Amino acid sequence: MSQNLAKQAAARAAIKYIEDDSIVGVGTGSTVNFFIDALAEIKGRIEGAVSSSEASTERLKSHGIPVYDLNAVDSIPVYVDGADESNRYLQLIKGGGAALTREKIVTAVAEKFVCIADPSKVVGCLGEFPLPVEVIPMARSHVARQLVKLGGDPVYREGVITDNGNIILDVYNMKIEKPIEMETAINQIVGVVTNGLFAEKGADVLLIGKEDGEVEIL
Ligand code: 5RP
Repeated sequence: MSQNLAKQAAARAAIKYIEDDSIVGVGTGSTVNFFIDALAEIKGRIEGAVSSSEASTERLKSHGIPVYDLNAVDSIPVYVDGADESNRYLQLIKGGGAALTREKIVTAVAEKFVCIADPSKVVGCLGEFPLPVEVIPMARSHVARQLVKLGGDPVYREGVITDNGNIILDVYNMKIEKPIEMETAINQIVGVVTNGLFAEKGADVLLIGKEDGEVEIL
């Protein structure tokens, strides 16, 4: 599938940002899976990884890459992760894979966030992709009512429990013209763990893979 070729091109291009003997921050998703496979080829050069999900941890370990608890590491020079949408300021929507909270935590620790994506992820205005919000289960209806007040249509993601034991509301029909303000406003709602806007701290580099193997750097 051509989209996979584009994802793989972006993932492989991220390898050159990895510093020798470092702990690598690793995100979640199908694009990141290509990155993990590429990282396995240079695993002798790194100390190990910090992972943003149980799924990525399992894949890293299957390649023999040591996975560290975030609390046990001093620094993460580079974090590599995908996105569901990016605007031209490298502000992102993430969380399609429900790993947004741990992704945001590792992003906060990392010195550089290298985002890997295929061209379909680049948009003019964020919000076509429904915005994931991780919510404490007992607060689901309260948070949904507040999200409606902010202009969105929240939909409970059936059958999904996050790695942290919470639920996801996907917010449809929001044209997010002021991503930092929206990220802050949603995080103020009691019961929200975090939301999938990575605007206050977005990516530092966006690698857009193409199906012919070329990679555009933004
Ligand atoms: C997971 C994420 C992913 O990075 C995002 O959903 C992109 O996934 P993919 O690489 O499969 O398109 O935020 O929570």
